[in-house]
Amino acid sequence: MGTLINKRLLLGVTGGIAAYKSADIVRRLREAGAEVRVIMSPSATEFITPLTMQAVSGHPVHQHLLDTGAESGMGHIELARWADAVLVAPASANFLARLAQGRADDLLSTVCLATEAPIAVAPAMNQQMWNNNATQSNLAAVNKNGIKIFGPGEGSQACGEVGPGRMLEPADLVTLTSELFATGELAGLTVVVTAGPTWEAIDPVRGLTNRSSGKMGYAVAEAAAEAGAKVILVSGPTTLTEPERVRTIRVTSAQQMHDAALAQAATANIFIGVAAVADYRPAQTASKKIKKTAERITLELVRNPDILADVAALKPAPFTVGFAAETDNIEAQARQKLESKKINLIAANRVGLDLGFESDENSLLLVEHGQVTELPAQPKPKLARALIRHVAASYRARSGAEIYQLRS
Ligand SMILES: Cc1cc2nc3c(=O)[nH]c(=O)nc-3n(C[C@H](O)[C@H](O)[C@H](O)COP(=O)(O)O)c2cc1C
Repeated sequence: MGTLINKRLLLGVTGGIAAYKSADIVRRLREAGAEVRVIMSPSATEFITPLTMQAVSGHPVHQHLLDTGAESGMGHIELARWADAVLVAPASANFLARLAQGRADDLLSTVCLATEAPIAVAPAMNQQMWNNNATQSNLAAVNKNGIKIFGPGEGSQACGEVGPGRMLEPADLVTLTSELFATGELAGLTVVVTAGPTWEAIDPVRGLTNRSSGKMGYAVAEAAAEAGAKVILVSGPTTLTEPERVRTIRVTSAQQMHDAALAQAATANIFIGVAAVADYRPAQTASKKIKKTAERITLELVRNPDILADVAALKPAPFTVGFAAETDNIEAQARQKLESKKINLIAANRVGLDLGFESDENSLLLVEHGQVTELPAQPKPKLARALIRHVAASYRARSGAEIYQLRS
């Protein structure tokens, strides 16, 4: 099973007996690491109370579309943008009909129309309702629109009948939901990611470092693993938990990061340098703590090796992506770096008082030879997934072009 850590899930609950299981679904999604918000249809509130769903999700339940109060808080468009995925469980026959028609006359169906996130429905209904031609043609229409259908299962039903139409069990729905994120876009490829700051020791207790938290690099490593890659994360000193399904190599200095990154990049398909690597290190590291005796001391610095340029100079070189934290003139600075280091893509990152380092949100400008793409401000895990989608497409386009050159 995949992980739901850092995932934002919107659970839609519609009016069916199986709604009593929706509270358990929320509990299990949260146990798997997801943040969950709930939308209930008016009928759903007849089966399970919004109070229960609020208590288990830890957030107020969203119920109304045409409500000025709700819209001034997290309204339908914000909910649609917030979600990394939407799961409707249980999905009633009536809701499937609304979804098939693209209706937008209640909050849940409107959010489903407005979201770019993947949507899955878990139908639950009496077996006659399930087998009815109208339901089956609605399902076919829903499926054709790219919406995933989880289940239903077969067995004894609340109405006393036996047959297809039982909602899948909450544990199975959580597993299937986590699989929505396993895109397979990087299947079979090895990706090396660097993350975090470096620490350049001055003496045993002091050093030069920077404000990088490592959050973006860790999110990129996780997104690459989710996309099916074998991922090696070369991490500077951070307080973050090592991502699952990723091999993490811990380093301290820029020189150590350089050596580890180069060794791994030599056999990788893609290299993504997210770490904020110190450009300079002290020429000497004192073996004992420097005492406060002299009135003035001078720290001599020497240049560190350039990890990105050295990775790009490997023969053969992996598809090389570099991050550039800039405060101004972002595109021009990024393009200059792209050309001088001879890399494939620069993800330029505006750093300022409330964006970039240490913050949970960021935006990126992806600068490539002949192409610029903007990824707007969003939480780092979501941004990392968008970056990985873009890198996978650019990598495939480049590999395709190389094969074409070899043939022609
Ligand atoms: C006791 C009872 C149980 C119901 N169970 C289901 C059900 O399991 N599945 C279903 O599709 N509809 C069921 N219905 C019908 C829906 O509640 C009804 O179609 C409702 O309009 C659905 O609204 P919604 O899709 O906006 O939530 C049930 C109705 C009642 C009265």
